[in-house]
Amino acid sequence: MKVYYLLGILMVAAVGRAAAQNEEIEDSVENRQVKKVNVTVYYESLCPFARDFIVNQLRPTLRGNLSRYINLELIPYGKTNRTSDYNGNATFSCQHGPEECYGNLIQACARDFIDSDALYAEFVACYMDAVHPPASRRLMDEAAEACATPAGLAASRLRTCANNTFGVERLIHYGRLTDAFATPLRRVPTVAFEGVDDEAASEAARASFAGEVCSRIEPPRPAECEDVKIVQRNGGVTVRTAVWSFLWLVLPLIRADRLFMW
Ligand SMILES: *[C@@H]1O[C@H](CO)[C@@H](O)[C@H](O)[C@H]1NC(C)=O
Ligand SMILES: *[C@@H]1O[C@H](CO)[C@@H](O)[C@H](O)[C@H]1NC(C)=O
Ligand SMILES: *[C@@H]1O[C@H](CO)[C@@H](O)[C@H](O)[C@H]1NC(C)=O
Ligand SMILES: *[C@@H]1O[C@H](CO)[C@@H](O)[C@H](O)[C@H]1NC(C)=O
Ligand SMILES: *[C@@H]1O[C@H](CO)[C@@H](O)[C@H](O)[C@H]1NC(C)=O
Repeated sequence: MKVYYLLGILMVAAVGRAAAQNEEIEDSVENRQVKKVNVTVYYESLCPFARDFIVNQLRPTLRGNLSRYINLELIPYGKTNRTSDYNGNATFSCQHGPEECYGNLIQACARDFIDSDALYAEFVACYMDAVHPPASRRLMDEAAEACATPAGLAASRLRTCANNTFGVERLIHYGRLTDAFATPLRRVPTVAFEGVDDEAASEAARASFAGEVCSRIEPPRPAECEDVKIVQRNGGVTVRTAVWSFLWLVLPLIRADRLFMW
């Protein structure tokens, strides 16, 4: 009887504590004091793998509550090569042809015209979804037109920017960021956390972006993390802890005389 009574008290206390922690996290999220996970995506406009990641992993996660824990930077450059002629004019060469360079340019330009990070990410996801090989200049322009309007942007501004030295300078800026991160960039897309070039983390993010973000949020984690598979990368520590807990809990239960019976 007393044991059940005590258990009841313990359970109420535990539930109360969890609720308090949840409230704390809601509070801190609203007050923007939550520690955000820095995410940088290096990609290029006509890469099918980048498209898959941005459309099927990044976009749904950003549309959910987890977005409040993410500080995102999108770098539309990928494996582009850049050369300068004797006038100092830059020329770009892209993996999937000149249309890809143009698509990168459009996205680089859009960043400067869209203030909101969330709207910019929506624009990029919309654009990546709309363009695909075999691409044409016309397809790239039509996609810009279709995606600019929901972002509150006039597509003509994008086209003018992409046709100008201003746009080229924006793209060079992203090229420099990519070079500083990795020269050459090995994979497209590369998803970097806290600015670190870690292939395992990047691949994990491509498989489950929400899971990888959740694994980087310190507990207590937001409710959104309950539904996603959290990849435990330093699994060795966990297994060792489990084995020790087992030994400490179970060994005292085994009677010594049984152990020495034979
Ligand atoms: C986001 O959080 C709110 C309040 O905590 C909840 O009502 C809502 O269902 C959540 N949305 C998603 C997409 O998880
Ligand atoms: C190259 O640079 C020159 C001199 O700065 C400029 O007049 C010309 O328009 C540029 N060409 C292109 C294609 O940007
Ligand atoms: C970029 O340059 C490297 C080295 O010259 C070359 O192997 C690669 O194919 C080039 N890539 C593009 C997209 O032009
Ligand atoms: C972009 O430049 C090309 C050729 O330089 C021109 O034909 C086209 O009209 C320009 N487009 C815009 C939107 O300025
Ligand atoms: C995360 O991003 C913010 C703003 O972009 C930056 O100030 C901070 O240094 C970054 N943190 C890490 C660990 O890269």
